[in-house]
Amino acid sequence: MDGNGRWAQGRGLPRTAGHRAGADAVRRVVEAAGEQGIDVLTLYAFSSDNWRRPAAEVEALMRLLRGYLRNEVDKLRGNGVRLSFIGRRDRLSPVLVRMIESAEETTRAGRKLHLRIALDYSSRDAIVAAARAMAEAQVFSRQELSRLLDSPDVDLLIRTSGEQRVSDYLLWEIAYAEFHFAACHWPDFDGAELAAALASYRSRERRFGGIPAAV
Ligand code: IPE
Ligand code: MG
Repeated sequence: MDGNGRWAQGRGLPRTAGHRAGADAVRRVVEAAGEQGIDVLTLYAFSSDNWRRPAAEVEALMRLLRGYLRNEVDKLRGNGVRLSFIGRRDRLSPVLVRMIESAEETTRAGRKLHLRIALDYSSRDAIVAAARAMAEAQVFSRQELSRLLDSPDVDLLIRTSGEQRVSDYLLWEIAYAEFHFAACHWPDFDGAELAAALASYRSRERRFGGIPAAV
């Protein structure tokens, strides 16, 4: 989810207004993802490097997240959406951690869509933590690392706002991911943009190192 700040800037609004519009986009896109048959959707809400931003912006993002959880969890459960979080929790406020745990518990049975939110997330840190656990257990394998990361392989990675970077996101999981770079800023991303990304994805032949199916 990139481009909230630029979206706001382009309208002469403060960056926080962009984040608010970004939260509205989350509601729309989650609904569209369910309708368009997505099984797992992982949204990059806040990276571990985002702590470098001004405290006021960080607090605005955290407040929006608390608002999202307060307002949306019942609706998500009603729509069969399971919500879970990846990333560190020890640097989040205790109130937010409690809300996250409660949301995960409340929506656990959801089967229509698994919505995952990456919060205080760094893929490198997650891989190091998983490597440490593998060393402790003396079990080293691809399967074990994937299991410890608790994160499925990514089929399609979408980044908005025209940036073409990975930014420490799901590095192990994107080994064979297809990439889609949407020109629009995240607040303008919607069901139609998602459908376009999926159409592009479906038009590609994924060979996983093999050769074209017809050959
Ligand atoms: C949202 O967009 C991403 C978050 C960290 C919430 P940005 O805040 O990165 O917006 P730009 O890139 O400055 O436009
Ligand atoms: Mg950005």
